[in-house]
Parts: sequence; structure tokens; C-alpha cells
Amino acid sequence: MDKEKVLHVENISKTFPGVKALNQISLDLFKGEVLVLAGENGAGKSTLVKILSGIYTADEGGRMILDGAEYTPKGIRDANEKGIYIIHQELNMIPDMTVTENLLLAQGLPKHKVKCFVNWKEADKQAQAIIDELDLNYDLHAKVETLSVANQQMLEISKTISQENAKVIIMDEPTASITGQETDKLFEYIKKLKKRGVSIIYISHRLEEIKRIGDRIIVLRDGTYVGEKDAVTVNVSEVIQMMVGREVTQYYPKSEHHAGDIVLEVEDLSLYKLVKNVSFQARKGEVLGIGGLVGAGRTELMRGIFGADKIASGRILLNGKPVRLTNPKVSVEHRIAFLTEDRKRLGLLMGQDIWFNVVISKLSKLGQHGFLTEGKGVKVAQSYKEKLNIRMPSPKTLVENLSGGNQQKVIFARWLFSDSDIIMFDEPTRGIDVGAKTEMYELIDQLVLDGKTVILISSDMMELMGISDRIAVMSNGSLTGILDRKDFTQERIMELALKGYLEK
Ligand SMILES: Nc1ncnc2c1ncn2[C@@H]1O[C@H](COP(=O)(O)OP(=O)(O)OP(=O)(O)O)[C@@H](O)[C@H]1O
Ligand SMILES: [Mg+2]
Repeated sequence: MDKEKVLHVENISKTFPGVKALNQISLDLFKGEVLVLAGENGAGKSTLVKILSGIYTADEGGRMILDGAEYTPKGIRDANEKGIYIIHQELNMIPDMTVTENLLLAQGLPKHKVKCFVNWKEADKQAQAIIDELDLNYDLHAKVETLSVANQQMLEISKTISQENAKVIIMDEPTASITGQETDKLFEYIKKLKKRGVSIIYISHRLEEIKRIGDRIIVLRDGTYVGEKDAVTVNVSEVIQMMVGREVTQYYPKSEHHAGDIVLEVEDLSLYKLVKNVSFQARKGEVLGIGGLVGAGRTELMRGIFGADKIASGRILLNGKPVRLTNPKVSVEHRIAFLTEDRKRLGLLMGQDIWFNVVISKLSKLGQHGFLTEGKGVKVAQSYKEKLNIRMPSPKTLVENLSGGNQQKVIFARWLFSDSDIIMFDEPTRGIDVGAKTEMYELIDQLVLDGKTVILISSDMMELMGISDRIAVMSNGSLTGILDRKDFTQERIMELALKGYLEK
């Protein structure tokens, strides 16, 4: 079969102040194929696809050809009209608009024929048809901000793949915040798109997906092209080697932990939403993993403990004493940290420099009476840059200019700096490359050896089993069981994760 070229990219470069994000990248994209782009955090993947989709303009000197014609998108709309769409790495829905409004925003809401009012009935019908494609069951009139991150991501995906004139759909880490079932739905749909002749550019740090969905893989490192492989025959360790330039052998570094006294007790905790009658204890010097399906109430539980959401009933005890953690500030004073999964909305201050984002949780640590000097802040950020290998031009860069994975590392640095005793991580390695993941596991291990308590929500089963000492499993808002490390098996965890849905 002769492969038909859809897109040709030649010598594309992109320079940001202080960073050469892309250096002379050339590639071809063929009709109906899935081209995987891989590379470490900051390698230039998002920058490249933003140029393809008209969000950024490339430096002078390169060119792009779409279906035989010169392609110089003037903006994202122009790219869309020419058939190139992108699903962003970060969520892009408008939080206080409804599901229907968000889905139809780009194309416009349908109007009544005679009067020019919006025809809401028709709008809902169209919106329903879009989400039906992926079998999603959402309330069309709910504001998007009330949906979980995973559901928002699915909505974003359904919006993009419903575009009929699409020739190329770019997916920048679409599965970072969703799990098994939803990923399956997406992959089924990608197969349909391929049959229709749509080409996909697919970015993911979940390396097992390369072989599942990819046809071809291109690896970038430091903004340059490293090489290309057949995704079906390549082996994953080869890809890792190309990405990081060295071999990564031990994925889950973990020392023997000796759990001490109980530091946190949660008794019969219920929230107003989803979470009911949860009880568990966490000890000094252990990693307590929290497993379960997306939507099981894991994030909600953590938010309740942290005081980000109101609790309906139940008690929380710290070191044996009941406490009322009525808001996050109080929790931070009690030396509890919460690293959230949604870095854009809840984690980072986007208009601020990196250093400020690092030190914000502990301003008083930097000077007497809480005075904060930029110089000190920059020094702190610089030290974490080295420890966590954060790729940034300088601590005085706006945090929004960092690559997705490096933004995640900034949040990580913030909570390390806060020097908390109990650290709750919600999907901490989401969007983090393999090399950096291992670095993070080492840091978590070190925290626990230093006597901290780590509570870890993860949808990555291997990661959860790899670094936890115990795993508590949530299902449909309830805690269905706690497993000791010797009893970890995927089957046991899945069984507990489904239990709460079967008993209904
Ligand atoms: N708007 C911007 N201004 C300044 N620098 C930027 C901007 N966007 C990206 N960069 C820099 O360009 C480099 C490449 O970033 P990019 O977002 O393309 O990486 P990535 O491969 O997508 O990484 P990740 O896997 O973490 O998402 C990084 O060093 C980043 O800090
Ligand atoms: Mg990216």
C-alpha cells in the first residue's frame, strides 16, 4: 500500500527567550496513521504540535505542507478550518459554562429560524450526539467546573473528535488524567478515525500506549530529532534509551520502610458528595497508596481531609488528638500538604514566577516576620531546579512558560519546601517522563525514610504497587479494603475497586 502524505514538516525551529525549544525538526505524517511523539519533559513535543495547530508561529527558515499546499496557519481557527485540530495538554473548557455550551462554543449555538434566540433544545440534541460517540453520560446543563478532571478531559476529547472536516487530530497527553475504561473508549475511537483516513499525532508519557495505539514513533530530545521507529516492533526500553540518552533499569526504587506511630486517623468520614463513612489510619514512615477507579472518590476524600471541601460528619485525629481542619490554611499549619492533580486550576499561580510558586506554601520560612525577598526565593527555587532536574531558563520565568511536566515538578518542589509531616499526592507523576518519575519515586522514598507520611493516589497500578507499603482501595465513595504489601496483586486491587459498584 502506498502511503499518502498528509503533512510535511521541514526544518521547523522555535526560540523562546533563553530557550531553543525546537531545532530544525522535519517529519512526515501519513494518511490514517497514528504517529507517536515521545521525549522527556521539556523536549519540545507540545511546542511542535502548537506550531502545527497554529498556536505558535515557528521561527523563520522552515516550512509546512498540508495536502500538497503551503501551510502557514494564522491561528488556531485557521488551522481548524484547514482540518488540523488539537486536544490540549491542559484542560481548556470554560469552567462556569455548561457542558452543552462548551461543546458547541467553537461552532456556535444553533438558533431558532425566525427569532434569533438560541434553540436550546436543538443545542442539547447536538451536544448529546457528540458525547454519545464516546458513551459519556453527563448532565448537559451541569457547569463544567463541577465535573472531575477526568470527565472534563473526556469532554474535551469528544468535542475535538466530533469535527467532521478533521484531517489531522493532535492529542497532547489525552490519557494523562483518565484511566483504563476511558482510555479503551478513546483507543476504540482512534481506530474509527484511522479508518476514516484521519491522521493522529499522539503524545503520551505512558509508554505502554505506544505499542497499543501507535504505528510509528518519533523521539525528540532537547528540541532535536533523535530518531524514528516502527511502533509495533520497537521495544519500550529502546524508546526510553532514545528519550533519556541512558538506560533506566530500576523503575520503582524503594527501600525497606519501618512504619512508626499512627499520625493520621480518619474516623467515619463522610462528605456531602460521594464519600461515605471512610475510616483509615496512616503511620509515620509509610507510603499509604490509595487505589480505585476514576470517580471512586479518592480526590474528594483527600480534599475533605485537607479542608478544601466541607465534611458532613466524622472525625480527623492528628497524633491522637482530634483536629478541625476547616480550610487548607489550617491544614498547612498542621503540617499537612496536598499536591493536587489539577495543576492549572488548583495548583499553580499562573501569572507568577517559578520561584514564587515554589516558596508560596512557606513564606515565613524565608525571612523574619514573614518578609520575603526575591533573592532568597530565587535561591530556593534554584536548589530545587537541581534536585528535581527542572528544565527552566531561570527561577524568574513565569511558571506558565514551563512544559507541562516541569510545571508538575514545581508543585512538587513547593510541597517539599513546605517541610510537611503528612504529604498527600494526587496523581503526582501525571505527565512526568520516565526518567523524572524514577527521580520522584526516590524523593518519596527519602521523605518516608525521613519519617514523613506519604499518602499517594495513583491510577497507575504498577506505580501504586511499586512504591506503596499499604494500599487502601476506594470504590463508589467507600473504602472497600486495605492491603498489606505482601498481599498486593492487580486482581485483589481490582476486586476491591469494583466492590462498591456491585453491591448497589
Ligand atoms: N511560551 C513559552 N515561553 C518560554 N518558554 C517556553 C514556552 N513554551 C515552552 N517553553 C520552553 O520550551 C521547552 C519545550 O517545552 P514543551 O512544552 O514543548 O515540552 P514538552 O516536550 O511538551 O514537555 P512535557 O512532556 O513536560 O509536556 C521547555 O524548555 C519550555 O520551558
Ligand atoms: Mg507538553
